[in-house]
Amino acid sequence: MLKIKDKLIVALDVDTLKKAKYFVDLLYPEVRLFKIGSQLFTACGPEAIKMVSNKGARVFLDLKFHDIPHTVYLSIGTGAACSINIMSPSAETKTRVEDTVMGPVFMMTVHTKGGRAMLEGAARAAKEKANELKIVKPYIVGVTRLTSDEEAPDTLQEVINAAKLAQDAGLDGVVCSAHEAEAVRKECGRDFIIVTPGIRLNGAQKDDQRRVTTAQEAIKAGSDFLVVGRPILEAKDPLKAVKEIIGSL
Ligand code: C5P
Repeated sequence: MLKIKDKLIVALDVDTLKKAKYFVDLLYPEVRLFKIGSQLFTACGPEAIKMVSNKGARVFLDLKFHDIPHTVYLSIGTGAACSINIMSPSAETKTRVEDTVMGPVFMMTVHTKGGRAMLEGAARAAKEKANELKIVKPYIVGVTRLTSDEEAPDTLQEVINAAKLAQDAGLDGVVCSAHEAEAVRKECGRDFIIVTPGIRLNGAQKDDQRRVTTAQEAIKAGSDFLVVGRPILEAKDPLKAVKEIIGSL
């Protein structure tokens, strides 16, 4: 069973390892899940994953793969394996799940627009690599429609269709806004993971996001994980912002 604070994923959307480490040192252990996306990964690659996992936290590697099935299959396998070789022994012992080690990367993303064969390849790669390395299989979740897209008449149906495709192809869940979370939960069942970005504190600015909600609304709608970047990174007191979000749940 996840604890409330383990629903919050802080997006390390920064451009240097130093800045990322500043936030991890400041927010851990209040936050134990951090997102590494294309900006930080482009800047420092697996070093960023190593820094987070050596602290004892875990990584949501959000690179939103969308390519030919073979390339995505290999990339997911590499992401899952990136896991093991770079983890310090102390971090490893902290995160045993029964008798299996949980790797640094606990979740990765692919684009549902990549189609069935690509999604199936991603799911297969995660399973095979986890078996081979005897690690807990990382969750593979499919991006449906970006939360920066305006809400359109077809948004809900498009997200539901993408979620059904992802589930059929063997993915563990999807990324969607809280506006669609309830319908996805209904359609795909309790165990399907729902990850929701576009979280804003009450009355806060939207930035480039469009389909935003508060953390509380997202959890109420059925989201399992909330991804929050700027409202925490740009807060005067990021730790206080984290505590406020956790407190609101
Ligand atoms: O700063 P903000 O809270 O808007 O950051 C949201 C994070 O979630 C960003 O890192 C963004 O890449 C990510 N994300 C998103 N929409 C998706 C998937 C991921 O905003 N559909």
